[in-house]
Amino acid sequence: MRHVTLKIGIVGTGWFAGKHADILAKTDGVEIAGVVGSSKNKGEVFGIRYDAPGYESVFQMADSQKLDGVYICVPPMAHGEIERELIERGIPFLVEKPLGTDAELPQDILGFIRLKSPELITSVGYHFRYQDNVARLQEVLQPGRIGMATGQWMGDMPQAKWWRRQEQSGGQFIEQTTHIVDLLRYCAGEVEEVHAVYASRFPEEEWERTNVHDIGTVTLKMKSGAVANISNTCVLPPGVGKAGLSFYTREGLWEWTPSELKEVGVDGERVLAEKSDPYVRQTEAFLHALRTGDVSGIRSDYEDACKTQEVTFTALQSALSGRSIKL
Ligand SMILES: NC(=O)c1ccc[n+]([C@@H]2O[C@H](COP(=O)([O-])OP(=O)(O)OC[C@H]3O[C@@H](n4cnc5c(N)ncnc54)[C@H](O)[C@@H]3O)[C@@H](O)[C@H]2O)c1
Repeated sequence: MRHVTLKIGIVGTGWFAGKHADILAKTDGVEIAGVVGSSKNKGEVFGIRYDAPGYESVFQMADSQKLDGVYICVPPMAHGEIERELIERGIPFLVEKPLGTDAELPQDILGFIRLKSPELITSVGYHFRYQDNVARLQEVLQPGRIGMATGQWMGDMPQAKWWRRQEQSGGQFIEQTTHIVDLLRYCAGEVEEVHAVYASRFPEEEWERTNVHDIGTVTLKMKSGAVANISNTCVLPPGVGKAGLSFYTREGLWEWTPSELKEVGVDGERVLAEKSDPYVRQTEAFLHALRTGDVSGIRSDYEDACKTQEVTFTALQSALSGRSIKL
């Protein structure tokens, strides 16, 4: 089916701006209309691949043409002005997780959406929600039947300098493990209370100017009465690690990883390999919403993602204070 061409702007010129831009460039009926970099030159250099002009601010990009939507792919500390400018102009956006380094800024932005443009179409990059296996988990799991859940994101220290600075990334649980927290909420319901213990084991051993915790474990009480634990570390050597979330229920055990879902019941076990590309589906749902106004395919919007951010930020506060905190 032929579509009216959508004009999409991109903010950010890093790894994930490239990932989204490549998907958009292959999508029928989409024009990458401009790229905002931390300098105009960076925007222009990135834009060459997509035949798109570069800009030094969202203000400039949105002033020079009519945009149907914008992808925001900047590190956690760079949020705020970008979103406010788009909300002011009523331009829909897909923003990469996490929404910020704390929970206050996203709440302010949510308030601004409600004030200026309550119907604004937003989507947040919790892409695992678009997997077939996660759809299956949502179908089979009933929060009231879950006893407990355990999850983890165990890996190495990412290369990006901003990631290793607490004030720029928010730390591993807010920046990365947020995916697992979001999946827990999506499949098992809301969180009521968190208690976190974080530590720094080898902060400067390999990487200079690192001040994020490199190990941590968070116990979460769910509203359903279930209990969950999610741990993370970035002390492992490059390329070594695992991520996943397991649910222990009266009906059996469900072990999810980004690549497969193992179901273990009294009748035996089976493994479902993940075949979908959730990033493509995420973009399809967002573009469909832009074209039709039908947002039912968007599985994480700004308001919902604020709840995940509240959990991850409260975990940091718990770790710093040594206290269990109710949300
Ligand atoms: N959903 C996922 O699977 C996934 C995967 C990777 C990254 N991400 C998220 O995407 C975001 C970006 O990560 P990345 O890996 O692309 O980082 P990166 O370091 O590769 O790129 C970040 C880019 O943002 C630019 N930038 C910073 N501030 C800016 C501003 N105010 N205006 C315009 N550009 C600005 C930088 O110059 C850089 O080009 C992060 O929040 C990260 O968590 C999500």
